[in-house]
Amino acid sequence: MDYIVINGQKPLNGTVNISGAKNAAVAILPAAIASNGICVIDNLPQIEDVTTLITAMESFGAQCTLTAPDTLVVDARGVNSWTLDDKLAKNMRASYYFMGALLGKFKEAVVPLPGGCDFGSRPIDYHLKGFIALGATCVQEHGAVKIKADKLRGANIYLDCPSVGATINIMIAAVFAEGTTIIENAAKEPHVVDTANFLNKLGAKIGGAGTNTIRITGVSALGGGEYTVIPDPIETGTYMIAAAITGGDVTVENIIPKHMDSVTAKLREMGCAITEGGDWIRIQSDSTLRPCEIKTAYYPGFPTDLQPQMATLLCRANGTSTITENIFEQRFRYIGELKRLGAQLKVEGRMAVTEGDCEFTGTRVIASDLRAGAALVIAGLCAKGETIIGGVHHLDRGYEKFEEKFRTLGADIKRIQRDG
Ligand code: UD1
Repeated sequence: MDYIVINGQKPLNGTVNISGAKNAAVAILPAAIASNGICVIDNLPQIEDVTTLITAMESFGAQCTLTAPDTLVVDARGVNSWTLDDKLAKNMRASYYFMGALLGKFKEAVVPLPGGCDFGSRPIDYHLKGFIALGATCVQEHGAVKIKADKLRGANIYLDCPSVGATINIMIAAVFAEGTTIIENAAKEPHVVDTANFLNKLGAKIGGAGTNTIRITGVSALGGGEYTVIPDPIETGTYMIAAAITGGDVTVENIIPKHMDSVTAKLREMGCAITEGGDWIRIQSDSTLRPCEIKTAYYPGFPTDLQPQMATLLCRANGTSTITENIFEQRFRYIGELKRLGAQLKVEGRMAVTEGDCEFTGTRVIASDLRAGAALVIAGLCAKGETIIGGVHHLDRGYEKFEEKFRTLGADIKRIQRDG
C-alpha cells in the first residue's frame, strides 16, 4: 500500500551502484535447488522477487542463509517436496524455473501457472514442449502443471522463438538428461549465459550459451560452488534514461557496458554524451533530445524491459518518435497512466507514436507493472510539481532501494508507508 512522492525537475548527478541482475538471480536461485552441494550466491539483488524465491526454496526443504544482504548460502540436500505453493507462484513469473530444476533432479514437479507482470498472454507452451521432448509428461490441472518422467533423455529441441524463459528452463532440466540436448534458436540474453555459467560451476556441461545453439551433455548430479550474479542491465538502463530526461550527469557503476550497447546507441542518437570504462558508463545530457525510432527485439536488440522507460524519454524529444514493441502484444498498457502526467503517445497496433515536446506535470498515478512503474518514476523526475505513484509493490519486485538510489543522485523522492 506504499506510495512514492516525487518533486520533479531536479537534474540527477553523481554515481549509482548497480545491483545484481533480477532476471539472472531469479533463474539461478531455482537452479540451485537442483544441487547436491552447498551453493554460495553473491551479488543477489535485494528485491521482493528474490525474497519470494527464498521462501519458495525453503518450502521445498532447502536451507537458505543470508550471510550478507546480497549473499545467500543454499543447502538443497534436504529438499523433500516438489510441489510449489499457489500463492508463491502467483507472485512472480520466474516461479516457472522450479519446473526445470525439480524435473531435472527429482523427475517430478507440480508448479502452478506463473504470475508476474501482466502484458497480455504469456504462455509457457515452449517450456512444456521442451520437457516433453526430454521424455516428461506434462498435465495441466486446477491451474497447476504436473510434470513427471521416469528418465530424461537428451533431445534436439527447436524453439519457435528465442524465449528466455523456455531456453533457461529446458537447459536446467537437460543438465540431468542422459546424453546430449541441443536447443536451437535459443535466447542469447546475458541472464541465459549467467545461468549456464552458474550451472557449469556446479559441474554441468553446457556449451554455446550466448549463441543461438546451446549444447548440454547430461550429468548425474550437480555439486556446490560459489557464484557472483552479473549486474542488472535493466536497472542500469533505467538510471541512464533517468539521467537523460533530467539533463543530468550520472555514472552507473559495477556494470558490464557491453550489455548496454543497444541502449547506449539510442541515447547517443538522441544527443546524450556517453563515455564508458571497464565497468562503468557515464551519461551526460543537457535535456535537448533528438527523436528516434525504437524497435524492441531479442538480445542484442533493444530490450522490451526498457521500452516503457524509453518511450517516456522520447516524449521529451524535439520531434516525432516511434516505438515498436515486437516481444509482447500488450506492453503499451502503461500509456494511459503516463498520459495523465502529460505524455502524448498514440498507439497503433504494435507501434506507439509521440510528437515529442511533452511537458510532464505531476499528478496521482498507479504503476500497473514493474517497468511501467519505472516509466512513471522517470516521468515524475522531470515533471513540474508533485507526482504521487501508487502500486509501488511492483517496483519493489525488481528494483533494489530505488528511492534511496535516486535520492543519492539528487532526486526529491520519498516513500510514504501506509498500513493495511
Ligand atoms: C523474460 C523476462 C522478462 C522479459 C522477457 C523478454 C524473466 C523472469 N523475465 O520473460 O523480464 O520481458 O523475458 O525479454 O526473465 N512465448 C510463447 N511461449 C512460451 C514462451 C514464450 O509464446 O512458452 C512468447 C511470449 O509470449 C513472448 C515471447 O515468446 O511473446 C518471449 O517471451 P519470453 O522470452 O519467454 O519471456 P519471459 O521468459 O516470460
